[in-house]
Amino acid sequence: MPDVKTPNVKKETTDFLVIGSGVAGLRAAIELSNHGKVTVITKDVPSESSTEYAQGGIAVALSDEDEVGIHYEDTLKAGDGLCREEAVRVLVEEGPERIMELISWGAEFDRDGTRLAFGLEAAHSRKRILHAGGDSTGKELERVLINKVKAIHGIRRLPFTLAMELIVRDGACLGALTVSERRPAALLARATVLATGGAGQVYSITTNPQVATGDGMALAYRAGAALEDMEFVQFHPTSLFLPSAPHFLLTEALRGEGGRLLNARRERFMDRYHSEMELAPRDAVSRAILKEMERTGSDHVYLDLGRMGGDFVKRRFPRVYSTCLTYGLDITREPIPVCPAAHYMMGGVKTDILGRTNLRGLFAAGETACTGVHGANRLASNSLLEGLVYGRRAGQTAAAEATGLSKEQLALSFEPVPPQSIPAHDEIRGDIRRLMWQEVGIIRNEQTLLEAKRKIEQWGYITEKSFLTRRELELKNMIQVAGLITDAALSRQNSVGAHFRSDYPRKSAGWQDHITLRKND
Ligand code: FUM
Repeated sequence: MPDVKTPNVKKETTDFLVIGSGVAGLRAAIELSNHGKVTVITKDVPSESSTEYAQGGIAVALSDEDEVGIHYEDTLKAGDGLCREEAVRVLVEEGPERIMELISWGAEFDRDGTRLAFGLEAAHSRKRILHAGGDSTGKELERVLINKVKAIHGIRRLPFTLAMELIVRDGACLGALTVSERRPAALLARATVLATGGAGQVYSITTNPQVATGDGMALAYRAGAALEDMEFVQFHPTSLFLPSAPHFLLTEALRGEGGRLLNARRERFMDRYHSEMELAPRDAVSRAILKEMERTGSDHVYLDLGRMGGDFVKRRFPRVYSTCLTYGLDITREPIPVCPAAHYMMGGVKTDILGRTNLRGLFAAGETACTGVHGANRLASNSLLEGLVYGRRAGQTAAAEATGLSKEQLALSFEPVPPQSIPAHDEIRGDIRRLMWQEVGIIRNEQTLLEAKRKIEQWGYITEKSFLTRRELELKNMIQVAGLITDAALSRQNSVGAHFRSDYPRKSAGWQDHITLRKND
């Protein structure tokens, strides 16, 4: 047996640990910094998060023509009967204050003259989407929040640091085992906030950045936290479809401003599927596109901006315009080839409206969490607002409920982590992503789901191992989350919101139930 070096686990303490550096994590960290030392770990550079890539904007009832109550109703309607009403009320009522706070911290949203400019997106009955830099809203939020965090002395940022596992003793979370440059460490904390974003990367076609591998959900599940509504994956109808390009998001605001969907024969088709045409809810548009692709034997449809005028397109959507141009496509002259892509997880780590999970000391916020605010289908542009509102709430609660670490807890020792690796792990990653797209995608049924489950179980051994590299840890988490989405989708024998089962195409018995998954249940 060769002499294998096992890295020792160094131990550190902090008052509060935040895992993830998108809008929810940063907002939580800012709140926590009023109460103690905060450590924010992030597996890449801090700005590399789904927040950074959010285009369309942030929904908030602040315009003269809008009301909090209308935003509430629109959110419930999009959620298709499965939103937690209390969670939605918190979102829409606290949203305006969080936005004004952000503006006071330096956020520059687009304006018409001196007044904030509001855009329209699908399923909103009012223009209520604030945007920045035309279509770079998330980037502006990240800029402001990172600057704010940098200015706070009590917040330490650790980039390129991954959480391997949460540390749990006697039903309480005491921090996380982390790894950076293959060196493991135990980071003990009085309270831990999970805010690692979504899991779009478990699908081969996704708008999500590389970092979105469901880490927080997988960590929480392995630690014994409850996850909820994992079957509800939102597929965005329009991602760029070009052989040489990634599936870059083509914001819904393009349709809000008059963009039209055309099939491969360049015919408009949404009138056959929904009375609200291109502005129907995302799940309806995604399924319509899928059917139209099938009907015409094509792997994409088109988004035509022809009616908008080139100057307007360049001014309102500079990021979409310039990105497409780098791939040789001038969207002011040609329709854009598009296809649906996995975009957002409505489900996640189950929390109450204060960000608490079922484990003491563990809190969650943002896309990682499931407060029930999105129900079965998220209303467009509610997610950045959720990150602000619930990031702050999770921070407040974590600070209020954190107890000190006991002598015994501080004296905990941790086993060295033996270096293990998975042969051909990148191949498995590709296989699992394709499997999820084909069998657990926009339209599922028992047969496809059982096939996915069978294959995912073959990789289950990977979720039992410890790794010291990012790619392998991510794969472990992706397998875990893929299994959870599949199990939840199998359990839900009805169709509601973004979950469509061709073998149970209606809201049949049990549709109002939430599906909760917990290890060993
Ligand atoms: O279409 C978009 O800009 C996406 C917005 C969202 O997912 O909230």
